Amino acid sequence: MKPLIVKLGGSVITDKRKPFTIKRSVIKRLARELKDVKGSLVIVHGGGSFGHPLALKYKIADGYHGKDQLMGVSLTHLAMEKLNKYLVEALQKEGIPAIAFQPSACVLSSNGRIKSMELRPLERVLALGLVPVLYGDVVFDVVKGISIVSGDQMVSYLARKLGASRVVFGVDVDGVFTSCPKKDSRAELLRVITPSDVGSLASVWEGESGDVTGGMRAKVQELLELAKFGIEAEIVNAARPNVLREALLGKRGLGTVVTRGK
Ligand code: IPE
Repeated sequence: MKPLIVKLGGSVITDKRKPFTIKRSVIKRLARELKDVKGSLVIVHGGGSFGHPLALKYKIADGYHGKDQLMGVSLTHLAMEKLNKYLVEALQKEGIPAIAFQPSACVLSSNGRIKSMELRPLERVLALGLVPVLYGDVVFDVVKGISIVSGDQMVSYLARKLGASRVVFGVDVDGVFTSCPKKDSRAELLRVITPSDVGSLASVWEGESGDVTGGMRAKVQELLELAKFGIEAEIVNAARPNVLREALLGKRGLGTVVTRGK
């Protein structure tokens, strides 16, 4: 069965203004919404205030430059594991048989892009009906030694390799806007984006600063790659109750759809 892949953005599950702050009640609500999904499901989450500040401090995404970064690798990964553990436990409490999957142990990247990933255990896990929970992580890179692979890139890679039925990205805004919707009242929501929308990326709001993996524009870029393979994605506001649930249950048009054709 083709899996549904969902990304929970770091800004949804953590408070990005405060280091290492989990949005507990949001995670509890999202776990309830995820419980309603029938069929094969893969969950990937972002780093938010757990991953980004440490990755930035130790310049992990720039590659390996010296021994002083090694503690940063260790700390960044551990921070992501802590967030992952919290999420897995919240999912378990709702009766979801979630299982943590550590990207740094099964991914090799090349210049920050996933080069290979050991997928066989993941395929077995899905065949059994377990729900794997992966995340953006520190990865080991054949060109620059170390790097960061975002949850977004992970979703795009997995969707292609596993042949996802659909991809849903839960973020903390209503979709993809032309400028920052939190600051600009004239920001327009883009309902559909396709690879043929020449220049569409230029009109996409770039996203908030402080992210080592790029914001909204990078997300759209990943999803446009996916659209070329015929896999449709939608970016929805998971901070609003029930929006993620409805999107996962198949409703379209709740946010921004990224697809091959209009
Ligand atoms: C970032 O993952 C992971 C690390 C910085 C270690 P993402 O790029 O997917 O995180 P969010 O969703 O933007 O917070």
